[in-house]
Amino acid sequence: MADSRVDAAPHLRTVDHPWFSRWYVRTEHAVERAVGDARRAQNAQAVGRTLIIGAGTGLDVPALGPGATNVVLLEPDATMRGILAQRYPTLPLVGEPAEAMRLDPGSMDTVISSLVLCSVSDLRQVLDEIARVLRPGGQYLFLEHVANPRRLAGAVQRAADPLWRRMGGGCHLTRDVVLGLAESPLRPDWVELVHPGGLLPVIRGRATTPAIDAGNTVVAIRGSRNQEEVPHP
Ligand SMILES: C[S@@+](CC[C@H](N)C(=O)[O-])C[C@H]1O[C@@H](n2cnc3c(N)ncnc32)[C@H](O)[C@@H]1O
Repeated sequence: MADSRVDAAPHLRTVDHPWFSRWYVRTEHAVERAVGDARRAQNAQAVGRTLIIGAGTGLDVPALGPGATNVVLLEPDATMRGILAQRYPTLPLVGEPAEAMRLDPGSMDTVISSLVLCSVSDLRQVLDEIARVLRPGGQYLFLEHVANPRRLAGAVQRAADPLWRRMGGGCHLTRDVVLGLAESPLRPDWVELVHPGGLLPVIRGRATTPAIDAGNTVVAIRGSRNQEEVPHP
């Protein structure tokens, strides 16, 4: 089913950016200087079956806490997949875009994205897919750079966006991730600003899927970062 969805949507097929991927490997230490602490704090919360979408060169993997099990990497870019296969040969690696995942509904406890939503072709579809593959009460942990709500900084982002997209492997400076989450089936629990940055403000946060009981009625939505994990239904 997922293959036919990709076939039916040509914009989902063009996610290979070999030049950008090779450049990203060389600059990943700088990425970690900027967001490494936030990434570790974020990924320490991963529990259970954990899917990392847009895994890139794999920086999210060593940042995972001990609660993450059965880690799966999803990366549509062939060059990035080659790096992942070398660095993490024992981890399952899948190559479809996050808009059309070949994973079963409810098969994941945690989904992680770090600096990925800026590059996807269809933000709404990706958030729908994350909600689909998460079990009821599952969690989505995100660390993303977003549109700057300040007027001047936002105007600079919009002006720089076309060139940035060409240089940055399809990365958009102006993605409104918070609005996207609000319009998605996911329920944001909390969001915090990691870097106010002009061109690249970074947020992190968690969103969850509603938990259901055996009768398929919604019984709980996790509303705070300290709340207990909702057990498997
Ligand atoms: C800036 S890199 C970030 C890599 C890694 N997550 C990190 O934090 O270092 C963006 C990644 O998103 C991936 N990506 C782009 N479009 C995607 C899509 N539609 N679905 C999943 N991943 C995608 C790219 O191939 C790339 O690996």
